Amino acid sequence: MQKSIEEIRKDFPILNQKIYGKPLVYFDNGATSQKPLCVIDTENEIYKTINSNIHRGVHFLSGEMTNAYEKARQTIQNFINAQLSEEIIFTKGATDSINLVAFSFGEAFVNEGDEIIVTEMEHHANIVPWQMLCLRKKAKLKVLPIDEIGELKINELENLISERTKLLAFAHTSNVLGTINPVKKIIKKAHSKNVKVLVDGSQAILHSSVDVQDLDADFYVFSGHKMYAPTGTGILYGKKEILCQMPPYQGGGDMVDVVSFQETTYAELPFKFEAGTSNFVGSVALARAAEYIKEIGFELITTRENGLLIYATHELKQIKGLKIFGESQKKSSIISFLVDNIHAYDMGLMLDKMGIAVRTGSHCAQPLMQRLGIDGTVRASLAFYNTPEEVDLLVNGVKRIVKLFH
Ligand code: ALA
Repeated sequence: MQKSIEEIRKDFPILNQKIYGKPLVYFDNGATSQKPLCVIDTENEIYKTINSNIHRGVHFLSGEMTNAYEKARQTIQNFINAQLSEEIIFTKGATDSINLVAFSFGEAFVNEGDEIIVTEMEHHANIVPWQMLCLRKKAKLKVLPIDEIGELKINELENLISERTKLLAFAHTSNVLGTINPVKKIIKKAHSKNVKVLVDGSQAILHSSVDVQDLDADFYVFSGHKMYAPTGTGILYGKKEILCQMPPYQGGGDMVDVVSFQETTYAELPFKFEAGTSNFVGSVALARAAEYIKEIGFELITTRENGLLIYATHELKQIKGLKIFGESQKKSSIISFLVDNIHAYDMGLMLDKMGIAVRTGSHCAQPLMQRLGIDGTVRASLAFYNTPEEVDLLVNGVKRIVKLFH
């Protein structure tokens, strides 16, 4: 049976508090989501019972912890329907995952004169690692533009791709515009020209079900902290045949087979890419977050979030002078806006004093801001635990601020 909103909100104790004497309205879920008790308890329980380093001990606790960690890998494999568990690499987050691919795929496959394509709506995490790769390899970074409503100009992809294009990297869902890109269609186009694809799923993985085999993604990355899991956790999914051809990203313990001063051989997948003692406790809690999402159910999540998006968009649009950036029909529950010449920071600071947490600024997407001709927006990013009453508080808050400024 589906949980009621009261039951859902009880899962997230942080939501039930006052800020400056006002009930907290947390609309900064795009930056980081809150954590349900089951995730918090998973970490606590591990530290109270089986905490021990993985893959290294012959003793009982190490075995238990290793089992929990490898089970977590399988949970994530099932969550995104990867074919093999060794295609799931635990990382520190989406940024770490993208840097891994940019370095390692770059070492194996990118040469002088080759090209990487990103899009105009990318987060810095899906731009800068590719720029660094291009500098290192004397390769070229190309950019797929967006249109007026904030959708990718997919028709321009064919002209942009050349014989030298090695990889296309793009966001499943824009963290600023909320646009949900037609991932499967884009991947098909890229593959028809032999271009590999990395999808940044950070803003998508928590909103609707992802099937990496159906999408046919070569790489799919996401962060744990945006999907109700601990910070410092994340996933790189990669097709085995490609990962096998890529060199390790970092050297250290756990990623080796035999080490001597003359030569080192590396461990098999996935350990080849998991050097050092990682956040293995967090990774188990990440798997618990994935299970929690499944328990809640994407049907409930999507219904609630779409309802909130439609309601908030409609109500905000009644405010004279308010402009929403990103008006695709296929949108996630992210609303970026500005009102007349009121600066985003002023709006954000004043909303904060009303207990309402929104994000302001460029949202780590300065090139997109340049494209939009602005230096930032106010962003409300809504989760399934938010309510229409909270939307009302936001809308009334914005109205009060507009009145003050005028
Ligand atoms: N990437 C996160 C955001 O969009 C931090 O807010």
